[in-house]
Amino acid sequence: MDAATETSGGRPSAQDRIGVLEELLAERFSCRGFLSKPVPRVTIERILTAAQKTASWCNSQPWRLEITSGAATERFREAMYAAASSGRPNAGDFPFPREYRGVYLERRRESGFQLYNSLGIPRGDKAGYARQALQNFNFFGAPHVAIVHTDEALGVYGAIDCGGYVTSFMLAAQALGVATIPQAALAFHSDVVRAHFGLSDDRRVVCGISFGYPDRAHKANSYRTSRAALADTARFFDE
Ligand SMILES: Cc1cc2nc3c(=O)[nH]c(=O)nc-3n(C[C@H](O)[C@H](O)[C@H](O)COP(=O)(O)O)c2cc1C
Repeated sequence: MDAATETSGGRPSAQDRIGVLEELLAERFSCRGFLSKPVPRVTIERILTAAQKTASWCNSQPWRLEITSGAATERFREAMYAAASSGRPNAGDFPFPREYRGVYLERRRESGFQLYNSLGIPRGDKAGYARQALQNFNFFGAPHVAIVHTDEALGVYGAIDCGGYVTSFMLAAQALGVATIPQAALAFHSDVVRAHFGLSDDRRVVCGISFGYPDRAHKANSYRTSRAALADTARFFDE
């Protein structure tokens, strides 16, 4: 019996365990249309407890979260929407990608057109694109937002640790039937976020995660993004 088929003490076999993980990874998608129904606190805390197991350099666990529900989500929505629609320049703590080029530009365009096609926004309709981009600041109707921030002194690795945390959060949420969307857009006005939540000057806003129960009938949730083949991603060196 090998590790793939072994069961011990009634624990699921390795095949079952990887099967569950693969299913969660395959099912998860960025949800851009939520039901207003709130997620119980006990479920949110279960997600956070699972995600807390994320690895971080020197076990620094630099992620901290500001999580809103109910009226607090509405107040934050108002603050973010006002900032985003005011025309003020973006003032994120981390530089925006300098350029999407080559295959990265192709993938960006493909996923963008999937979204616009699902919503019936015609190609080249810049005003339509802008209206949809503003939905980021409505949290796509989600009843909750988690703002993920890190310590300035940890630099890029603090942000990497937070990225790992975000993935754990999304998978734990998926396992509990809670949909998510990670949003760099919510870090575009990090000064507004810091002021809103009373964060100290040395906290750096990495991103937000809007979450809640998915609106399965929403057109923006009707497609799935593609992934590159393994051969485009990894090289093996054996000799
Ligand atoms: C760090 C990060 C930031 C993101 N920021 C945004 C965002 O601001 N707005 C948005 O609509 N989607 C955002 N996304 C979602 C991506 O567009 C999405 O993950 C990607 O297209 C793959 O699709 P999937 O998540 O449905 O598999 C972000 C994803 C990540 C990982």
